[in-house]
Amino acid sequence: MFRILEKEHLTSIHKKMVIEAPLVARKAQPGQFVSIRLHEKGERVPLTIADFDRDAGTITLVFQEVGKTTRELGTLEVGQGILDFVGPLGVPAELLESGTVVCAGGGVGVAPLYPKAKALHQKGVKVISIIGARTADLLIMEKEMAAVSNELHVCTDDGTRGYHGFVPTKLADLIKAGAKMDEVIAIGPLVMMRVSADVTRPYGIKTWVSLNPIMVDGTGMCGACRVSVGGQTKFCCVHGPMFDGHLVDYAESIRRSQMYLAEEKVANEHYCQCGGDR
Ligand code: NAD
Ligand code: FES
Repeated sequence: MFRILEKEHLTSIHKKMVIEAPLVARKAQPGQFVSIRLHEKGERVPLTIADFDRDAGTITLVFQEVGKTTRELGTLEVGQGILDFVGPLGVPAELLESGTVVCAGGGVGVAPLYPKAKALHQKGVKVISIIGARTADLLIMEKEMAAVSNELHVCTDDGTRGYHGFVPTKLADLIKAGAKMDEVIAIGPLVMMRVSADVTRPYGIKTWVSLNPIMVDGTGMCGACRVSVGGQTKFCCVHGPMFDGHLVDYAESIRRSQMYLAEEKVANEHYCQCGGDR
């Protein structure tokens, strides 16, 4: 069992957990993820590493309670454990050694963005961050992002905090205002990453996105996480999760992400009706 050492409610729908996993923490790098299974009857779900501490031997997860497994994870308390915690998986992010990088995070996408911004900041790269959420109460990790950014822009869709608008719109505003940037890392819902890539494409600004498709084995054998990038088939779990945002087939990824919505709804309803019983 991998013990939960800390648990924090970040917002009404986001939770943070610090997990004791020294072997995973020893090798973890920004951009990688873990595949967890809560118990013997549980499904495996991938969660991007939101932070790691090699000395303490811990991995931090930040998740939104959207499906049965993330809801069930959210019910676990400090001292309880997760049965399987496999990782670190995926290819570490390719991070610049100098220059300026814009780190753009939408919603829960700010969590996987944080370790990249932190590593860039530690290398001395100038980090301009843009983080956004539907409304002020759903903004996460603002303090953490502020600590690793030279500039932080906060956006909300409804204008309850900071810039009134979407993260990619703020990105477009910065580019039009003449902000110099060598790369953009955009992480959030698929539509947000697609629009961010559309914004940077005409300027030829390299743009990385982090894909989060349905995964099963997480080791490149089942094909569940298939994505198309530059006309080639890639398995996100072993070739990603970071890809060139200008080459991703977003329409296909959006379609594939919705393939099991009916089954997910049934599992969610069953979980709620059973009062959390497996
Ligand atoms: P959300 O719907 O609250 O959107 C977050 C932000 O994305 C918004 O505040 C806005 O700035 C931007 N955005 C949303 N719609 C947009 C549009 N049409 N055009 C431009 N910008 C837009 O996001 P959420 O509820 O946190 O996201 C959940 C989704 O994120 C799920 O689909 C999940 O699969 C995905 N996700 C992705 C990753 C990843 O690594 N890419 C990680 C976790 C979750
Ligand atoms: Fe099976 Fe990636 S999750 S190949």
